[in-house]
Amino acid sequence: MKIIYSLLICCLVFPCKAQRICATNEAQLKPNLYSRSATQSLSARDTLPDEIITVPVVIHVLYNDNIQNISDAQVISQIESLNKDYRKLNNTRNIPTVFSSLSADARIIFCLAKTDPIGRATTGIIRKNIKTKSWSANDQMKFSASGGDDTWDSKRYLNIWICNLSGGSLGYSSLPGSPADKDGVVIQYDVFGTTGNLRAPFNKGRTATHEIGHWLGLLHLWGDALCGDDLINDTPPQRSYNNGCPAFPHVSTCSINANGDMFMNFMDFTDDDCMSMFTRGQKNKMRSMFASGNARNSFLNSQACNSPSPEEGPMASGNVVIIKSAVSLYPNPAKDFIIIEAKNSVELIGKTMVIFNTVGREIKRQLLTSSKNRILINNMPSGIYVIKIGEGKEIKILRLLKQ
Ligand code: ARG
Ligand code: ZN
Ligand code: CA
Repeated sequence: MKIIYSLLICCLVFPCKAQRICATNEAQLKPNLYSRSATQSLSARDTLPDEIITVPVVIHVLYNDNIQNISDAQVISQIESLNKDYRKLNNTRNIPTVFSSLSADARIIFCLAKTDPIGRATTGIIRKNIKTKSWSANDQMKFSASGGDDTWDSKRYLNIWICNLSGGSLGYSSLPGSPADKDGVVIQYDVFGTTGNLRAPFNKGRTATHEIGHWLGLLHLWGDALCGDDLINDTPPQRSYNNGCPAFPHVSTCSINANGDMFMNFMDFTDDDCMSMFTRGQKNKMRSMFASGNARNSFLNSQACNSPSPEEGPMASGNVVIIKSAVSLYPNPAKDFIIIEAKNSVELIGKTMVIFNTVGREIKRQLLTSSKNRILINNMPSGIYVIKIGEGKEIKILRLLKQ
């Protein structure tokens, strides 16, 4: 009812454009009670000031025809694009100088789940051939009983449903604190990712960036009212949404100064190619959702992007699973520096690399922040070293000869 009401308000205040849905699910913020389960035995903790927060994702692809059954490559392109937008590694050329100091690296990354809710291996992509030809924004796609696919534990997984939304809508999201079985993001199949059959100008993955912004508590810049408030101090007030890609400055009647609207913000309605930033205020708001007692806190302990534990899974081989993957180390042998690189940034970003000598003493430790990392080794004595990437049950081991 509330959803319908806010949709109505939206449509009264702003004449609804065919391709826009301007509602997020209404929800009250309630304290989050952390629950333990067999596959998740770590105790709750608070966020660390600058830690990279990893959010495990499950994609429910609901398709009625082959075109809607988007490829793994399309899904992966979206994850990679999110990891650029939320780490300020995207193309920021569209940010005017006056706003550039406000632009922030949110230090949040996303990974496809490797373990399902009952501890089995998964690709993090669920495909379901469904009867429904198109869906309204009323959450029916989130329930198998209504022809969709049930939510995976929304305390540990960000659920994203890909389907055909009616009315040309691009997507919608729940806000933190909404009912667990409806928690997540819904995205139109042809605006998801950066490769595949995509609908320009929504072909740069920004619908997901925007919707996940809502999922982490962000509101539209104009607060869904004429000259409304998004409750973030460093986003300037603006009269309403922007479409296309305005020329800078776009001064609207509520812009407080000559810089005008921040139309290149991910929380406006501009074209994908026009959007390029979250502010520091938005970053702080999103990260605060992961703090103790807040709606996304349980994600700090989600193990969903680790492979199933060896005792349970088919890869049982002692205590540690060494993952063979596309991580490369070069040059090797090396003298002054090495590069650790992976095709899929999820393999490296946010993980810690530790270099040990042959007697197992730790020589160097560095947080990997990119899909390509340069590590100085010029002050290490020559010899053989072992490089460990990651923690716990899932680690990668590389060998290095220092000259
Ligand atoms: N209309 C959607 C919403 O308000 C998303 C808009 C996304 N914009 C984009 N350029 N992809 O939630
Ligand atoms: Zn929105
Ligand atoms: Ca603001």
